[in-house]
Amino acid sequence: MGNPYLEMRGVSKRFPGVQALTSVSFEAYAGEAVALIGANGAGKSTLMNVLGGNLQSDEGEILIGGQAVSINSPLAATANGIAFVHQEMAMLPTMTVAENIHISSFPTRAGIIDRKAMEASTAEVLTRLGCHFTPDTRIQVLSTGDRQMVEIARALLSKPSIIIFDEPTSSLTSREKARLFDVIRTLKTEGVTIIYITHFLDEIFNICERATVLRGGSTVGGGLLSELTTADIVHMMIGDVGLDTRSAKHSTQQREVVLKVTGLNRRGVIKDISFSLHKGEVLGLWGLLGSGRTEVARAIIGLDPIDDGQIEINTGSGLHPIRPREAQRWIGMVTEDRRNEGLLLPMSVKQNMSIANLRGLLSRWKLIDNRRETELATHFVNRLNIIISSLGQPVKTLSGGNQQKVVVGRWLELNPPIFIMDEPTRGLDVGAKAEIRRIIFELAEGGAAVLVISSEIEEMMALGERYLVMNRGQIVNELPGTSTKNELMGAAAGAAQME
Ligand SMILES: Nc1ncnc2c1ncn2[C@@H]1O[C@H](COP(=O)(O)OP(=O)(O)OP(=O)(O)O)[C@@H](O)[C@H]1O
Ligand SMILES: [Mg+2]
Repeated sequence: MGNPYLEMRGVSKRFPGVQALTSVSFEAYAGEAVALIGANGAGKSTLMNVLGGNLQSDEGEILIGGQAVSINSPLAATANGIAFVHQEMAMLPTMTVAENIHISSFPTRAGIIDRKAMEASTAEVLTRLGCHFTPDTRIQVLSTGDRQMVEIARALLSKPSIIIFDEPTSSLTSREKARLFDVIRTLKTEGVTIIYITHFLDEIFNICERATVLRGGSTVGGGLLSELTTADIVHMMIGDVGLDTRSAKHSTQQREVVLKVTGLNRRGVIKDISFSLHKGEVLGLWGLLGSGRTEVARAIIGLDPIDDGQIEINTGSGLHPIRPREAQRWIGMVTEDRRNEGLLLPMSVKQNMSIANLRGLLSRWKLIDNRRETELATHFVNRLNIIISSLGQPVKTLSGGNQQKVVVGRWLELNPPIFIMDEPTRGLDVGAKAEIRRIIFELAEGGAAVLVISSEIEEMMALGERYLVMNRGQIVNELPGTSTKNELMGAAAGAAQME
């Protein structure tokens, strides 16, 4: 196979309170895609941040094409042909696609920004990625999936020889995903080295040749994917823990309605949304990305205005209509967008876990009872297996998956009667996903009503006792919990009516 194009040798990195990487070695050949896998907090992003020049390792060396290189900044990484598609996107929403893509490398002509050149080179990569928006579109009007494509376009711009993808598909539609995979295949034939981080193990078998598995900051295994199974990889990632695939679906007959939505409308967004959610029920809101599922959730809890419609909540003495935003007193909303809606990033794990719960934690003197706050936060950190060095650690320094667990944890503390979970396991590893599923069942068994939104069909099928299917802002179908994958996919695509 010749010599690897990229070699990282003996890389170690310590953060205050945590050894994130311990003498990790990693290699990749020209023209191949290597999957970098591991549980949440295993050190994947940290290793790639070292390669991308965002972090300096304490020890270790990097060789490219057999030559030792020093990568002490993102610019040095670019100069060495390395591009990075980040897990969490940082963009300037009021600026255009072209401006965001060129942010660190504005083309200048005699010292003046060359707008024409900027838009032309942007148009070229957008076409290559098959994007439908133009270079002068403002980021703020783009969907999460489109923004992810902009991030990928930015990486391609410098014509890199190594591209790092850190969970690139978590917000892409299946069509965007297919296009990304096509682009990756083409890049490989051009000799580009791809490093691919994901928690979707089916994806790595689809586009990667090899895998390297990290666990607790060390390399624990890997090899050619043609010689490995999913089970082998899960075993390397998390060891011998039994994954809970049990399905506790039960019937909703004769159970109390706790949330009743009637004729919810928001012009151009959602239309005539009516349904009931029962005590102890896990109701799946299913549909393709962009079908309006998140918009329904946001309207119910008053985050977006509605044109008309009624929301009733069973507050203990039957159903009562409530005003927008009042719903937030009874409904815990776990959002998919932890960066913008979910977390206060500079604040500590403990503070973040208690935000939703300040009321419950108020002591007689209306001061936050610090001991109780610590107890609760510790309990849920343990229960969700959140990897932190201390409760005082700022949330922004947690791994992506562990940030998501904090979002879930704070709502568990509050223990509301109704939960809306919008992509609750996005970015979580297989073990953590199973744990969240188990928690959802427990909540339902304990009498909570849970509305779940997930783009992962396996997850939907494992969870839902009943499904509402959305398409273009409307509920187009209701399916039983026993529905097959084909039935769900067909209904979401609008094909079910034709059968
Ligand atoms: N800036 C930082 N300060 C302190 N600790 C950090 C910092 N960045 C990362 N860590 C810690 O290093 C460890 C590895 O985190 P990393 O982000 O590399 O995990 P990951 O494998 O990418 O996980 P995920 O799948 O959840 O994204 C975690 O314990 C994390 O909290
Ligand atoms: Mg990560």
